[in-house]
Amino acid sequence: MPAEQAVRLSFTVVVDNNVDVFLPSQGPLHYPQPGPKSMLLAAQGFSSWLEVEGPGGETTRILYDFGRGGTILPHNLELLGIDPTQADYLVLSHGHIDHYGGLSYLAAKYDLRSPLVTHPRSFGERGVRQAGGGVAGPWLLEQEETATWLGNAPILADKPTQLGPGLWVSGGIPHQSERDVLWPGGLRREDGQWQPDALEDDQALVINLAGRGLVVITGCCHAGVFNTIDAARAICPGVPLYALAGGLHLNFLDTEQLEGVVSGLVDENPGLVLPMHCTGALAQQVLRNRLGARCPFTTVGLTLALD
Ligand SMILES: [Fe+2]
Ligand SMILES: [Fe+2]
Repeated sequence: MPAEQAVRLSFTVVVDNNVDVFLPSQGPLHYPQPGPKSMLLAAQGFSSWLEVEGPGGETTRILYDFGRGGTILPHNLELLGIDPTQADYLVLSHGHIDHYGGLSYLAAKYDLRSPLVTHPRSFGERGVRQAGGGVAGPWLLEQEETATWLGNAPILADKPTQLGPGLWVSGGIPHQSERDVLWPGGLRREDGQWQPDALEDDQALVINLAGRGLVVITGCCHAGVFNTIDAARAICPGVPLYALAGGLHLNFLDTEQLEGVVSGLVDENPGLVLPMHCTGALAQQVLRNRLGARCPFTTVGLTLALD
């Protein structure tokens, strides 16, 4: 077994925009059931917990993103029986508050010692263009404050960085594919002026899972579905795409653009697509119509267990 491959993956959704405790578990998909897990909370944002086992039995644990803030992240972690102090890495997909906002609340409750891994451009002041011409925000994440919360400096990953056997954070994702339609609503304040945000900090987790292929986990996927898949393929050349899971940020597309992206993704022939968070209800529906059982329902508390 080459060290570039993982042999087992467990991926659990900790914060997402949707919760449902009445979905039947089947195969590798384990849904939360009524009982204590009926108390799981949904909120705009994303957070997930990964356990990735290498060929020697060693397991790398990652908390990937932290939701929007408040007590939701620690509340859901507790209900799901996840201890965030066991994380080897805390990975932030990009510097939007619905992904980093929960980190300070988590650090206030737990003695977190794991390093934060993120792109250097995750830090700074961000906003969102409003329809009427205004700016929502600003939201500011500073490198120094994360160091204060965690007691150690972040690991700045702007290039692919291996975190364990068969496990990488993608680093910055080149915007090269003509098939992607990138969200134009992001703003970054630089030198006192709001500028269109190239969102070059957006990055994914990439797992090369033996016997399956590439599993790509996204936060908001601002770099685009196809750019992100291409970046995963550049890390693991020749390995087929198996699964894409996370926020896909397709909710701003018009019907024709959505059809183009969905058709392109269907052409990639993934074994599994788990669209969450900012994907949007219409895009989720269209993906499910086209992919059938390969695009199951998603919820807070869902665990995908693959080996
Ligand atoms: Fe998001
Ligand atoms: Fe985002």
